Amino acid sequence: MTGTGTDYSVQGGIAVIRVDNPPVNALGSHVRLSLNELMRRAEADAAVRGVILTGTGKVFVAGADLKQIDAPRSGPSINDLLAFVEGMTKPVVAALQGLALGGGYEIAMGCHARIAAAGVRVGLPETTLGLIPGAGGTQRLPRLVGAAAALDLIASGRQVAADEALRLGMVDAVTSGDLLAEARGLLDRVPRPLPRLRDRTPQGPAGDLPSARAAFEARAVALGQGALPAIRAAIAAVRDSFDPDFDAAIAREHAAFHTLRTGPEARAMIHAFLAERASAHVAGVSRATPRLSVAQVSIIGAGTMGGGIGITCANAGYTVTMVETSAPALEAAKTRIEGVYIGQVSRDRLTPEAAAAALARFRWVQGLEAGVAGADLVIEAVFEDMGLKKEVFAQLDRLAPPSAILASNTSYQNIDELAAVTQRPDRVVGMHYFSPANVMKLLEIVRGAATSPETLATVLDLARKTGKIPVVVGVCYGFVGNRMLWLRTVQTQRLLLEGCSPRQVDTVLTDFGFRMGPCQMGDMAGLDVAWRLRKARGERMEPVDTLADAGRWGQKTGKGWYLYPDGARDGVDDPALAPVVAEVAARLGVTQRAVSAAEIEERLLYPLINEGTRILEEGIVERAGDIDVIYLHGYGWPRHRGGPMQFADARGLPAIVATLDRMAEAQGDDTLRPSALLRRLAATGGRLID
Ligand code: NAI
Repeated sequence: MTGTGTDYSVQGGIAVIRVDNPPVNALGSHVRLSLNELMRRAEADAAVRGVILTGTGKVFVAGADLKQIDAPRSGPSINDLLAFVEGMTKPVVAALQGLALGGGYEIAMGCHARIAAAGVRVGLPETTLGLIPGAGGTQRLPRLVGAAAALDLIASGRQVAADEALRLGMVDAVTSGDLLAEARGLLDRVPRPLPRLRDRTPQGPAGDLPSARAAFEARAVALGQGALPAIRAAIAAVRDSFDPDFDAAIAREHAAFHTLRTGPEARAMIHAFLAERASAHVAGVSRATPRLSVAQVSIIGAGTMGGGIGITCANAGYTVTMVETSAPALEAAKTRIEGVYIGQVSRDRLTPEAAAAALARFRWVQGLEAGVAGADLVIEAVFEDMGLKKEVFAQLDRLAPPSAILASNTSYQNIDELAAVTQRPDRVVGMHYFSPANVMKLLEIVRGAATSPETLATVLDLARKTGKIPVVVGVCYGFVGNRMLWLRTVQTQRLLLEGCSPRQVDTVLTDFGFRMGPCQMGDMAGLDVAWRLRKARGERMEPVDTLADAGRWGQKTGKGWYLYPDGARDGVDDPALAPVVAEVAARLGVTQRAVSAAEIEERLLYPLINEGTRILEEGIVERAGDIDVIYLHGYGWPRHRGGPMQFADARGLPAIVATLDRMAEAQGDDTLRPSALLRRLAATGGRLID
């Protein structure tokens, strides 16, 4: 049935209804409409004695159609469908393959029994989008697996593999054989009267009703206050499943879903999800783009970054050659990397076997010549010194196989200038990892003027294979993330000079949802790093450099913006700091005053957003959402705030423009003026995210 998103056939008295809506069988309105009709048809057809509901292709149903999430509801809902299925006289078995997520798994729970193919992943990921399941999931799952387990599954949104799904009771059977044939077998075993989850109480395998309720309450308390609205709504909805009036609870679930759907968090989180999808599409690169095959990666410079990059590559199965200039440096790197694996094993993140296998993929080589022989990809991570990097690139070009890709992990330098010292500018690219590189998901892939689609496609594949989230960006100083962050750094220092305490500044951002504020981050990274660079260039930044002068380098010296008595990780306020900063302010002629939290927030965020719009204007990124993906995965931007560009749209561009103009006046700094793009969009009612 083309156009309906479904397919219907009757074989041996069994109606097989398939969802057929590529690529992931999302539940668009046409699919819901047609499923409703087909269930009625099967129920009415005297030749049919049972129904199998399954998906076409690799997936059962990956969930709702998020592109339609804002559209007005049309046609029958999944609740309507399931109300009908639960009233049917013929058994309906859901046969799940690939993904059965969100609305897909809710439909499966509305059927009379569930069977899954071995590779399946099932779950209710709605809270990761700022929503709750809105088609009975919060009511049926507690009846299937117990309320406490249901709350865990819903609050985490995690995807469950076949074995665990079977153990929890999320499916009745798992098969690695012929799914449809096994589903037929299950259909014959469905007991009469037909089992309906609505008739059960939420105890499930977890035990009796009181203990299920107690376990649920304990879990709800542990999730705590301050949880996002979706988690709070999930707790309330699962609690509601103890209400014997199933239909009333379903109606409340639906109402809660609707409230969340139109709220700011869900908008932000759905945007984040769609932006991540969109950023995978890169102009000029497609599935048809040829790839270079990569087995061996050489990493030049086994320092902080090189070590972390090596670990991610080795973990993904690549052979990794770590290259250093001296034996002691190599030895130190080896000890550090081994230490990381030992730590992971002791924290049960990795089995000893997996750690040993990963370590066995490392080779330790002194000198470039031996280090890059046979390399398919070379990643340079030497000191941030353009002279040195150019020298290294010229040598790499001579020594590495002509087919090899040469990448740089530089944070700031111009990839085109590096490409220019080689004979293979098409094979030169930036791979800007974030520290710690074996942990942070983001990878800015810097496309130079000459970087070929093959090169890009190859490093994009490697990024995904190593578990990274790659975003392709163009050449500019600091690329996207650091270029924008600089604006926040400047405002942080000015706020401190004006009399804000580090705590005041940090708290504004942690209240916003960041895990750390700029002063906490500075103390962790070390205030001496940038201070050293500035000293070398004869520059100064106040008040931070006054702290660094005094040996207040942050956690590593026990004091920075905060004090760290006895190596404590969380800083405590230092009463001696304010007079030090006040003195610097007086010397620089800065009047100290009380600054409101609202002003701190605007000053930390709006200039950074403004810089993002310049980046967009210059075409450094393909789309505004790419900037958001960078901030979500590289800079701790809270997901329920969407990312800087989505946040700007939500806050309102005209207000941001007016505030930036005011800031530029007050600070006598015209670089704070809104970009032309921002002004235009604000004036025309446009948005950064289309
Ligand atoms: P690092 O100082 O920890 O490591 C650099 C290593 O390169 C040292 O072990 C050094 O012995 C080695 N090295 C220097 N010259 C070499 C040569 N000719 N051949 C082989 N090895 C050589 O520095 P880090 O922090 O790892 O930074 C490396 C690069 O990564 C820099 O370009 C930096 O901007 C960039 N980066 C740093 C980040 C960070 O947070 N530290 C984040 C993202 C990028």
